[in-house]
Amino acid sequence: MKNDPLTPYGNTPMVTPIVSAVNYQYTSFEVLRQITDGEIDGYTYHRDDNPTVRTVERKIAMLEEAEDCVICTTGMAAATMTFLTFLKQGDHLITFHDIYGANYKVSLILEKFGVEITWLDAWNYRAVQDNIKENTKMIFCETPSNPLIKVIDIKYLREQADRVHAMLVVDNTFATPYHQKPLQSGADLVIHSATKALGGHNDLMAGAIPCSKKDYYDKLWFTRQAIGTTLDAFSASLLERGLKTFKIRVQKMSENALEIARFLEKHPKVKDVYYPGLETDRGHPVALKQMKNGFGGMLAFDVGDTQEDAKQFVENLKSIIHAVSLGCTETLVCLPVLTTMLYMPLERRTSFGVHLNTVRLSAGIENTYELLADLKQALDKI
Ligand SMILES: Cc1ncc(COP(=O)(O)O)c(C=O)c1O
Repeated sequence: MKNDPLTPYGNTPMVTPIVSAVNYQYTSFEVLRQITDGEIDGYTYHRDDNPTVRTVERKIAMLEEAEDCVICTTGMAAATMTFLTFLKQGDHLITFHDIYGANYKVSLILEKFGVEITWLDAWNYRAVQDNIKENTKMIFCETPSNPLIKVIDIKYLREQADRVHAMLVVDNTFATPYHQKPLQSGADLVIHSATKALGGHNDLMAGAIPCSKKDYYDKLWFTRQAIGTTLDAFSASLLERGLKTFKIRVQKMSENALEIARFLEKHPKVKDVYYPGLETDRGHPVALKQMKNGFGGMLAFDVGDTQEDAKQFVENLKSIIHAVSLGCTETLVCLPVLTTMLYMPLERRTSFGVHLNTVRLSAGIENTYELLADLKQALDKI
């Protein structure tokens, strides 16, 4: 997408300028009226809108083939804004155990405000059919999911949501728009932790909500403006820079993840490998249908028999880094039960397939053979 010309001669900066202003001088009362009546695009106060942020919103909307996109401070802000905007007391939300752990905390807040929630196992997503109710207003899922990379058929969820005119919201952080475009499969909204592959360098936090309709954009914009989750212009600029290499990074991540999954699958110290690119993975048939250009950079696997085995493996790694987060240039590993799912009661953390020795891996863009060699030497030591 071309940047807007900003200089008197119409030549265009290659990078969108970082507008750090909080407020803007009005040129006249008439211009103020036109801005507040929505007749012209204009800026008044950062909490409302910012030109650097707006440019990046348009770029992410293009990637997801969305009507428009709202950017905010974090992926969790994006999810929470979505719940606050579209759910009210007495509404029923269907979601899955297999979503990012902090959503569990948000669910406790939603319950306080009278939202009823049903939790299902993403491997058994067809149970949605028996759990839809008259008051079901939203189905919220991640596919592939965190942390076991389970795959959900988005078109199937659309059909179910249509029975009661519910919204379908898909967190596309793991797949990224390079591999999957949920709006094209029937989702109403997409959620991104843009902190992850869209940004890609562990140096910014942001959330994004690509929307299928302008009306959704307007409603989410209202919530953001009201509660003040507008992203700062500097982070938006870093995100714009990340987007320039987005496709090439996620392509390499996905190639690395597939090679790693194939290697781990054959290793005697590894039990289950969860990766939808493996022909043996239970999510493979649906992933083949709704993903393209590969299957993403995320995988999980069980190491040895105990949590001690998994810990030893992680500590033996030399170049692969033990850290949370994902979708960045470096390959990262973590134990979900001790990190991203820590907020949940232990029995809940392990009731839907995650084990104490499950390791989640986010493939980076390093040389594949170096990654395989590191994994091999660490596994050989346990
Ligand atoms: C799939 C998924 N969605 C949302 C989030 C939340 O994103 P953030 O950390 O930017 O709030 C995460 C964080 O890891 C995630 O993995």
